[in-house]
Amino acid sequence: MQGHRRCLKLFLAFALLLLQNVKGGEVGSSDKDANATRTCIERERQALLAFKRGLVDEYNSLSSWSSESHKQDCCRWIGVSCNNQTGHVIQLDLEDYLSKGKMISPKLIELQHLQHLNLGEIDFNGSQIPDSVGSLTNLRYLDLSSCNFGGQIPSQIGNFTQLQYLHLGGNQFNVENLNWLTSLSSLTDLDLSHVNLSNIFDWPEAVNKLPKLRYLDLGDCSLPPPPPRIPSTTFSNINSSTSLTHLNLRDNHLTSSIFLWLSNYTTASLVDLNLSENNLTGLIPDVIGNMSSLANLGLSHNQIEGGNPNSFARLCSLQFLEIPGNRLSGQLSKFVQLLPTCAQNSLETLDLSHNDLAGSLTNLTTFSSLQTLSVNNNQLTGRIPESIGQMSQLEHIDFGMNSLEGVVSETHFSHFHKLSYLDLSSNSLVLNFPSDWVPPFQLDTIFLSSCKMGPHFPKWLQTQNDCLALDISDAEISDILPSWLWSMFCNSIFINLSNTNQRNFCKFDSEFCNLPRSIFEFEPNTRSNSLNSITSLIFGSLQ
Ligand SMILES: *[C@@H]1O[C@H](CO)[C@@H](O)[C@H](O)[C@H]1NC(C)=O
Ligand SMILES: *[C@@H]1O[C@H](CO)[C@@H](O)[C@H](O)[C@H]1NC(C)=O
Ligand SMILES: *[C@@H]1O[C@H](CO)[C@@H](O)[C@H](O)[C@H]1NC(C)=O
Ligand SMILES: *[C@@H]1O[C@H](CO)[C@@H](O)[C@H](O)[C@H]1NC(C)=O
Ligand SMILES: *[C@@H]1O[C@H](CO)[C@@H](O)[C@H](O)[C@H]1NC(C)=O
Ligand SMILES: *[C@@H]1O[C@H](CO)[C@@H](O)[C@H](O)[C@H]1NC(C)=O
Ligand SMILES: *[C@@H]1O[C@H](CO)[C@@H](O)[C@H](O)[C@H]1NC(C)=O
Ligand SMILES: *[C@@H]1O[C@H](CO)[C@@H](O)[C@H](O)[C@H]1NC(C)=O
Ligand SMILES: *[C@@H]1O[C@H](CO)[C@@H](O)[C@H](O)[C@H]1NC(C)=O
Ligand SMILES: *[C@@H]1O[C@H](CO)[C@@H](O)[C@H](O)[C@H]1NC(C)=O
Ligand SMILES: *[C@@H]1O[C@H](CO)[C@@H](O)[C@H](O)[C@H]1NC(C)=O
Ligand SMILES: *[C@@H]1O[C@H](CO)[C@@H](O)[C@H](O)[C@H]1NC(C)=O
Repeated sequence: MQGHRRCLKLFLAFALLLLQNVKGGEVGSSDKDANATRTCIERERQALLAFKRGLVDEYNSLSSWSSESHKQDCCRWIGVSCNNQTGHVIQLDLEDYLSKGKMISPKLIELQHLQHLNLGEIDFNGSQIPDSVGSLTNLRYLDLSSCNFGGQIPSQIGNFTQLQYLHLGGNQFNVENLNWLTSLSSLTDLDLSHVNLSNIFDWPEAVNKLPKLRYLDLGDCSLPPPPPRIPSTTFSNINSSTSLTHLNLRDNHLTSSIFLWLSNYTTASLVDLNLSENNLTGLIPDVIGNMSSLANLGLSHNQIEGGNPNSFARLCSLQFLEIPGNRLSGQLSKFVQLLPTCAQNSLETLDLSHNDLAGSLTNLTTFSSLQTLSVNNNQLTGRIPESIGQMSQLEHIDFGMNSLEGVVSETHFSHFHKLSYLDLSSNSLVLNFPSDWVPPFQLDTIFLSSCKMGPHFPKWLQTQNDCLALDISDAEISDILPSWLWSMFCNSIFINLSNTNQRNFCKFDSEFCNLPRSIFEFEPNTRSNSLNSITSLIFGSLQ
């Protein structure tokens, strides 16, 4: 992923370079740079050249940054923008042009009118942000995320009283306190994700002091939980309670005391709340149910045991409810009754997988917008209700690893025009479709391991042209491997036919699909007499 992004970045840099050269040619010939030298301020031009010396311009992306006479106007340099009245540099945005740096030149402070600085994702190899950056007091936008900076965050950043946007996430800072943060009274958008804040016990107080904050990402910061009883003085300055809309605290060490902080801090405005991968225990408290604007609630991978009657009461805008990997128990139908009826037309994702829910799958047709229904790895029993067939918006069904039983027929699937992901594996289901059935969907993932669907290879699979992953292992198939299955192999990255007892296996032909042989992996089926039986083919990795 990182690699792809980098490639894309370099490509963009290259493309922009070409564009810029073309454009440069036109401009030069039409107005003869009449205003060019006048618009760039010499001190700032020198500062930018010094700044460039602290960067590593491997691909010559900054070729416009030069002292050559026809490139004098630094306002036309790539990534630089000036105020068109005063000629001062006001914006420096190099995220898309460079991938490496050595250090931020202290000369940068000459750019006194700078309002916008983005060096995101340029690797500064563990160097420090110079304190002098603190005198850029006109900054409104500062993005130094994923720059591999080390050392301290300069407390001088607290001088940026006009700063609205501050992204410092993904660096190796050694943070001793967040006192500098509290003077950033204009801040609306703060991201310190992946910065180690394990020793910052007063982080809730620091955040409380930012009256205009709307977006806060403290994901993967090793945040300690707020103390169970926060002194009420903490809340004397609680103006931000009306404005925070996005709160991401995923992957920390928070306990359920976070709910007390939330209840005193912010409820009505929150749209996104992510508390996944923490240490939350007990029941989902009523305070969540008061967050009437909430659309996305992530509680995955905690130790939550269930909900109160009011846990979701007023969440009428709820779209994503994710509680996988917890300790939800009792009947699924009881849990479903807790879901807000006022969200019946908005709920799109319900993920309750990896819990201990029992009972049978309930009739969820009233949730008419549901796209993702994931209840895998629970203890569900009984049949899949035919009413599910009416949920025409479903794209993702994951019922795997339960104890569901009975026959699944085409009635279940008749309205699934949008379905792309189907996992019914590891249950005791019988799939019984007419041999000429043409499903209304095109799946990219088919996991039907241990569903009884033999003895012939189900013909409907032949209609699935875009399948990336197919697992029909242990499906009681005992048949000649049909030739059309080969054409599915061409597009797939994963196929598991383990224990399908193919009675003959057409010889593997490396020219088939025109793919290099090296990417195929065979797992010889030792249980079968036929040396040529395939068990699974893994064409690359399943992401
Ligand atoms: C130079 O700038 C002035 C004032 O901004 C403008 O009126 C004039 O048209 C510009 N000249 C050229 C050649 O761009
Ligand atoms: C100067 O900048 C302002 C604000 O960015 C813009 O509205 C205006 O159109 C610009 N003027 C010229 C001549 O480019
Ligand atoms: C990165 O820093 C280390 C020491 O901190 C140094 O040895 C190495 O040469 C630096 N790499 C680059 C590309 O500057
Ligand atoms: C910036 O902050 C430092 C301390 O954090 C302070 O000493 C300095 O005077 C401030 N500079 C400006 C220009 O406000
Ligand atoms: C965070 O920092 C503390 C001490 O400063 C250290 O003990 C801990 O291992 C660090 N956590 C991570 C995830 O690096
Ligand atoms: C919430 O605020 C009120 C009033 O400011 C205070 O009395 C109460 O103790 C606070 N709750 C918690 C959990 O700190
Ligand atoms: C909180 O907001 C009110 C009204 O918007 C304002 O009068 C008050 O000064 C603010 N308090 C603080 C501490 O910012
Ligand atoms: C979760 O809480 C338990 C008990 O309070 C503690 O032992 C454990 O270390 C915590 N785990 C994390 C990841 O914080
Ligand atoms: C939820 O809101 C209601 C009505 O505004 C209020 O009475 C109740 O105390 C709130 N509950 C929590 C847990 O904040
Ligand atoms: C919450 O964060 C996790 C990563 O920890 C992510 O996978 C999930 O999609 C997020 N959920 C919501 C509702 O934002
Ligand atoms: C499922 O629920 C809907 C709405 O409550 C109802 O109209 C429908 O008859 C139910 N279907 C079955 C099979 O119970
Ligand atoms: C293929 O399916 C068999 C039987 O379900 C399973 O044991 C095996 O782990 C699967 N192979 C892969 C690579 O997933």
